[in-house]
Amino acid sequence: PRTAAVIPAAGRGVRLGPGAPKALRALSGTPMLIHAVRAMANSRAVSLVVVVAPPDGAAEVKNLLAEHALPERTDFLVVPGGETRQESVRLGLDALPDDITAVLVHDAARPLVPVDTVDAVVEAVRDGAPAVVPAMPLTDTVKEVEPREKDEPEPVVATPERARLRAVQTPQGFDRATLVRAHETITAKGEGATDCAGMVERLGVQVVVVPGHEEAFKVTRPLDLVLAEAVLARRRA
Ligand code: C5P
Repeated sequence: PRTAAVIPAAGRGVRLGPGAPKALRALSGTPMLIHAVRAMANSRAVSLVVVVAPPDGAAEVKNLLAEHALPERTDFLVVPGGETRQESVRLGLDALPDDITAVLVHDAARPLVPVDTVDAVVEAVRDGAPAVVPAMPLTDTVKEVEPREKDEPEPVVATPERARLRAVQTPQGFDRATLVRAHETITAKGEGATDCAGMVERLGVQVVVVPGHEEAFKVTRPLDLVLAEAVLARRRA
């Protein structure tokens, strides 16, 4: 079976503050996207990496991939993205060659995921699971609320049992046909799919969780950049 990794990297990264698209911001001197591409390509199971670039940034991303050292046994493709993460992923899937049977979808915003986590997801898919997500237990207690306008107190609706909750990460792994079917079935915008596995769940297909890793956190806010730099410094030490 041939496995490809699709990396949606077309987001603006508004929550990170003003500047370049999030995926192109530097971590320890190297764009976050390059870290994410290496994290996928370092898995021997991944033979192709498809980067979904900002719609006006495909040429820039191609240049970046050419400038940085990447594993030679891996193929790379760059395609322009869309307005939502879901659309960007679909555009990445459309670019896959026919012989790809398994697909990882990995956020450019999770540049530091360890290769062991990537391998564990691929292995679970190859063992027959149609959809696999790496996830971590929560440290915070979570409340469901009735959302209100900014700063207004929000009424609590429920407190789900923490021990049964998981925070999901990427790469999420799929049997290709299952993920394509999810995208064909659930096409309406604004349905609010924040991850691919959620779309597969709506098909009624069983999704399973494997252990995630604390270094697979998503770089979203400025503090996350501080943490990412610290993780890289620790790896170099
Ligand atoms: O915004 P969020 O952090 O959830 O984005 C997750 C991933 O989806 C990021 O890697 C981002 O670049 C990507 N994305 C995309 N196309 C969009 C919006 C987000 O590829 N239109």
